[in-house]
Amino acid sequence: MTNAVAADSLHAARVRLRPTMQSDLEFVLSLERDPENLPYITPWERIQHEAAIRFPDFRHFIIETGAGLEPGGFLILIGCRNPHASIELKRMVVRDKDQGFGRSALRVAKKIAFDDLGAHRFWLDIKKRNARARGLYESEGFVFEGELRDAVKLDRGGYDALVVMSMLLGEFTQRRGRALELPA
Ligand SMILES: CC(C)(COP(=O)(O)OP(=O)(O)OC[C@H]1O[C@@H](n2cnc3c(N)ncnc32)[C@H](O)[C@@H]1OP(=O)(O)O)[C@@H](O)C(=O)NCCC(=O)NCCS
Repeated sequence: MTNAVAADSLHAARVRLRPTMQSDLEFVLSLERDPENLPYITPWERIQHEAAIRFPDFRHFIIETGAGLEPGGFLILIGCRNPHASIELKRMVVRDKDQGFGRSALRVAKKIAFDDLGAHRFWLDIKKRNARARGLYESEGFVFEGELRDAVKLDRGGYDALVVMSMLLGEFTQRRGRALELPA
């Protein structure tokens, strides 16, 4: 696998993914703790990110964005050595929202999962209230599989469901045939 994977085609916003380093973790933690992101994620301790950088089953990436390819977000894949070829997009956070960076990073993540890591199934879950993320994943070809009811506690009381979505290799290949995915 190359160290940095870029998305410049499909008229997408410019992003590049590179492995996260220890020196990036302050940035990662600050994004997780940003009140704009907190409703949608469960932040990790630094030690969990440190482990994710090192553990072979995980891939932790910085999303570099914009003309200068500065750190603009991060994403984490888990299950990369899963015997069932089922890889999870554990988390994706982008600092400057609604500029297309999340969509571009997702396309690169799909390419890494299917082309480089040999996924048969690429899946994720999101809080049901996360309409932006759901819209993005649906429009990028992820299929709704179902809901885990009352799966996460809300800060202000009550619970939210987790929505599970996935894409299978055959669906990815079909989309690529229609030029909806990054080329191999
Ligand atoms: C989810 C996230 C990664 C998406 O990245 P992004 O760069 O903001 O997304 P993009 O700009 O690439 O695309 C967002 C799309 O959702 C659309 N959108 C925005 N708000 C929406 C809403 N409330 N409902 C439906 N769609 C919405 C946008 O219009 C855009 O679609 P378009 O390209 O057709 O216009 C980012 O917003 C983020 O970091 N959110 C907080 C953390 C999070 O929720 N992560 C996902 C779960 S781990």
